Amino acid sequence: MKKTLLFIASAALLAQACGGSLSPQDKLTVHDKEINALIAQMTLEEKVNMLHSKTNMSSAGVERLGIADMNYADGPFGIREEGQPNGFMSAGWTLDSATYFPTGSALAATWSEELAYKYGSGMGKEARLRGKDVILGPAVNIQRLPVGGRTYEYLSEDPILSAALALRYTEGCQDEGTAVCIKHFAVNNQETNRGSVNAILSERTLREIYLKPFERAIIEGGAMSVMPAYNKVNGEYCSENEHLLNEILRGEWGFKGFTVSDWGGTHSTMGAMLHGLNVQMTGSNYLGQPVIDSIATGALTEEMVDEKVRQILRVRYAIEAVPADVANTVMTSQPECQDIARQVAEKSIVLLKNEGVLPIKADVRKIAVIGQNAVLKTQSGGMGAGVKALYEVTPLEGIQRRAGEGITVTYAPGYKNFPGRRWGPAPTVKDPLEASAIDEPADPKLVAEAVALAKEADLVIFFGGTNKNIETEGSDRKNIDLPCGQEELVKALYEANRNLATVLISGGPTDLRVLEPASPAIVQGWWNGTEGGTALAEVLFGDIAPSGKLPFTFPAKLEDSPAYAMGNFPDPNGAGGDLFTLMFRPDVLSMTPAERQAFIDSLPKPESHYTEEFYVGYRWFDSKEVKPMYAFGHGLSYVSFTYGPMSALAGKDAVKVSFSLTNEGAMPADEVVQLYVSRPEARVEWPVKELKAFQRVSLGAGETKTVTLTVPMKELRYWNEATNAWDLEHGKLLLQLGSASDDIRETAEVTI
Ligand code: GLC
Repeated sequence: MKKTLLFIASAALLAQACGGSLSPQDKLTVHDKEINALIAQMTLEEKVNMLHSKTNMSSAGVERLGIADMNYADGPFGIREEGQPNGFMSAGWTLDSATYFPTGSALAATWSEELAYKYGSGMGKEARLRGKDVILGPAVNIQRLPVGGRTYEYLSEDPILSAALALRYTEGCQDEGTAVCIKHFAVNNQETNRGSVNAILSERTLREIYLKPFERAIIEGGAMSVMPAYNKVNGEYCSENEHLLNEILRGEWGFKGFTVSDWGGTHSTMGAMLHGLNVQMTGSNYLGQPVIDSIATGALTEEMVDEKVRQILRVRYAIEAVPADVANTVMTSQPECQDIARQVAEKSIVLLKNEGVLPIKADVRKIAVIGQNAVLKTQSGGMGAGVKALYEVTPLEGIQRRAGEGITVTYAPGYKNFPGRRWGPAPTVKDPLEASAIDEPADPKLVAEAVALAKEADLVIFFGGTNKNIETEGSDRKNIDLPCGQEELVKALYEANRNLATVLISGGPTDLRVLEPASPAIVQGWWNGTEGGTALAEVLFGDIAPSGKLPFTFPAKLEDSPAYAMGNFPDPNGAGGDLFTLMFRPDVLSMTPAERQAFIDSLPKPESHYTEEFYVGYRWFDSKEVKPMYAFGHGLSYVSFTYGPMSALAGKDAVKVSFSLTNEGAMPADEVVQLYVSRPEARVEWPVKELKAFQRVSLGAGETKTVTLTVPMKELRYWNEATNAWDLEHGKLLLQLGSASDDIRETAEVTI
């Protein structure tokens, strides 16, 4: 704590000396003088030793000079259990059970900057209890593909929502004394061939959509480290992409921290050294001895190494190392963090449809809970983001606890669960409830058992959705179909009992064309963390009103979504295996560098063309007038809200709107108000409308508040590819205020 206090004190002094104008990034430079003196004492070997992994989750300091190693921890929604020094296998510790926070899309569904800050602070707290300096998160890539394997891990299809939450998560975490490593920079929107795919997109699309979440977190939030992505952007690997890492990140955004490659995502010595990478994770075959050799030949200079070490040490100075006798001495998961997880879960749950079924009526005495997703835990799986949780309340447990003695709760599995890719030996005995294929039809016995319970119940709650091996890092889904015969089952349940509510336990969108007519109520329940079952029961029983809003579009069918409609995904030439996965093949690892390079050159060159441009998500559906199943920003409540007339004013620096908002209901409730902007007379091409401001507003029963939303003028700019700079198109703006992108309540016009 002493070092942190020292850092803050000296930053404040320097800020005072500079009239308080130090940007969050420049605060990292307050110790440069000391750092330079330290570097002058270091040998070249000690310096180069800092540029690559020491263990699978650490990079070296310099013990001789009292510089502590840098310790990293996955993932974005829970401090991952301790791994072996040389890999991801569990170290088998006991105090590393952490709080399992709701996953990224669930956090985004809260549309709450306040909760994003708390979330980040919870992560920062538990990271320090584990002796970690840097968390490998938040993961903020835009959800371009409904099938994207990491949609659950990311936040939103919209850059404004993603950026606001990424900023607050960053601030919350770093205020606790833990650095973020915001990822994956950039345009990492698919898992298919993720280690080699070349994302090809225009500069305007890059700037206005895909970089926006990183930009705010880095410039305004002072994100101290950045993880370049596996993929290429416009021809260059992200880990050696001059445009991304030097021109934009450091040049334009003034980034003063360090970059750490994704694991296995470093591709060369010269590329990494010249184009912006600081630390190779893992291994030292690029940023180890070859750097020293290259200095000896004059291809590189020691000053280049010094600059990279300086950037690392800035973060080392900003983050006080956790003393070895303090780290891992108490249980990682803390009650205050469990409570944050519950708050986020409560505000994330989205009521998609409700024809009077919810909240559960007072005369319901028997509830049939159907579906394995009511009992399967969701903390692990999904690869790097898995959490060994101290505990996890499942939906069934939450319902049983909340129902109490007066209500009977019955359960049947209903369908088989597809385990997806296994990371270990398959069990010798086949689990009768395990499917062998994701599209395996419904099992008649399981259906019959479930229907029998449904017939006897006052209410049926069907738990559908996917799991974190169907939606996972490392692969994209083939479609968004509900797996394992769930559609056949829900139709049979609905036939047996019309008083039915569906809860979807999933991270991304699913195809609801069959389920929707058979479900008078539908809830998106997410992978909602340690207290997910508790929060879900509170919403189902009406203790709290649902207030989540969709952070991405639910297409009616996958083919309606932009990258599919444009034929941009999947890549017809993408077959042949991914460089990333192939590079870890033992035969490849045993090759000489020349043989390996020849092998790499022989591989296919998958590409992903972003010709849909900035028409991602609702921007596409609105502009092409394609009706989605559920729109971006959609989410119902148990109350109704009245929006008063909106007054709007365009000033020099911002557009401001204000209006009254009334909760017409008999219970407290939150509304997420959303402001969209259209440009009816634009000369520049724009989507039909774009989200530009939002706010979660809490209102007591019958309460009215005046709400003000502000859109900074700079958020109304576009990237002018003719001048290669941000530009503001003057003219008329049509402001649209609403409860969802397809539920506009008030409009107003201003001219900027
Ligand atoms: C993975 C992921 C990244 C993760 C890292 C360490 O491949 O892409 O998100 O933080 O490796 O596990």
